[in-house]
Amino acid sequence: MPTTGYTFRNVVVFRGDNSEIMDTKLAPLLKEQKLALTFLDPPFNQNKDYESHNDRMNEEEYWDWMKQICSKVYQITEEGGSIYFMQREKNSSEVLECLRQTGWTVQNLIIWKKKTSAVPQRYRYGKQYQIIAFATKGLRPRVFNRLRIDYPLMPGQKQPRENGIFVTDVWDDIREMTSGFFAGDEALRDDKGARIHKQQSPIALLLRIILSSTLPGDIVFDPFAGTGTTLVVANQLGRTGIGIELGKTNFDVITKRLISDRPSDKVSLDYYRFTGNLDEIAGLKQAKDVQTITPTLEFVEVLIAEIDCSDWSFSGRKGESRRTPTASILKSGTKKLRNNPALRNPDYLVRR
Ligand SMILES: C[S@@+](CC[C@H](N)C(=O)[O-])C[C@H]1O[C@@H](n2cnc3c(N)ncnc32)[C@H](O)[C@@H]1O
Repeated sequence: MPTTGYTFRNVVVFRGDNSEIMDTKLAPLLKEQKLALTFLDPPFNQNKDYESHNDRMNEEEYWDWMKQICSKVYQITEEGGSIYFMQREKNSSEVLECLRQTGWTVQNLIIWKKKTSAVPQRYRYGKQYQIIAFATKGLRPRVFNRLRIDYPLMPGQKQPRENGIFVTDVWDDIREMTSGFFAGDEALRDDKGARIHKQQSPIALLLRIILSSTLPGDIVFDPFAGTGTTLVVANQLGRTGIGIELGKTNFDVITKRLISDRPSDKVSLDYYRFTGNLDEIAGLKQAKDVQTITPTLEFVEVLIAEIDCSDWSFSGRKGESRRTPTASILKSGTKKLRNNPALRNPDYLVRR
C-alpha cells in the first residue's frame, strides 16, 4: 500500500501503521543518522473508541505488540538514544519488563502528577499520576541536559532560590489537559467546542522531554503521533521530527496544526531560564533555518498539501490558516529530493 506523508519545515509525518512504516520506510533509510529520542504514548487498551485502532485487545496481545514496537524503535535508535514510554501507573511492571526485554536500559520511572484532581475511588486511594519510563540504548544517554526550573516555593520556604532547582523524577508542575472547558486553549477543538483528541499531550511535557534528551538537529520520533504534539515542539526547537499516525482524522489534524502556528502551541522557555546552556540546547535559532535540517530526511517526497482550515476553530483564531514562506522553500527543494534514488520508488510519490 502506498504511504501518505506530509512534511512541514523539519518535520515529516506518515499516515499508516507504525510497525509497517518502521520496517519498510524508516529502518532501510535511517542508516547514517538514527533516532535520538522517541516519545511513546500508545493507546492504553482501555476500551476507548479510536477511528482505526482496536483498544480492546487481550492483555497478552497488547504487551506483545508493545514489545514489538519497543524492539523496532531500538533497532533504529542511535547508541545512547532515549525512549520515554508513557503508561498508566498500574502497568508499571509491564512497561519496565517490556523495555528491558527489548534491550533498553531503564534510567528513571518518572511520576507525572498531573496537577488535576484525582478520580475518587471507593476501595483504594484516588489515582493522580501516570508513569513515564525513561530508558536509553546502552548504559548512558548520549545527551542528558540537566534542566533547572523556577519551581514554586514549598509552604514554609521563604527564600527564593537564586538559580532554581534541577528537574527530578517527580513531575508535578505540568498540567494535563482534562476533558471539557478546563482543558483550556491548548486543547484542539472542533467547531462545536468538543475536544478533537482526548489524549492530546501538553506542549510543556514534550518541551521537557525534548530539551532534556536531545540537541538541535537530532531526530525526535513519535510512532503514535495523535495530534502531533511531539512534532509541534520538535519543529520549534530545531529538531527533526518524524511522526506516524494511523487515523486519517488525526493525521489531518497534525497537518493543520503544524501550519497553524497557534499561540497556545508556542513553547515557553522562561521556566527553564536558570539552565546554564539553555540557548545552546533550545535550538530556537536553528529552527528558523529549515534548509539545514530538511535534507537529513531526503528520502521522503515533499508534499505541500492544500489544507483547508475553515472547519477548524481554536482560541479566537477561527479558520485562520496561512501558507508560510517555508512552503515555497520546500517546493523548490523537491526537485533535488526527486533525484534521490530512494524516491524512484513510487510508494513515495503519493499526493493527497
Ligand atoms: C494516546 S494517542 C497519542 C496522543 C499524542 N501524544 C498527542 O499529543 O496527541 C495514541 C494515538 O496512536 C494512534 N495509533 C493507534 N495505533 C496506531 C498504529 N498502529 N500506528 C500508528 N498510530 C497508531 C491512535 O490513532 C492515536 O491517535
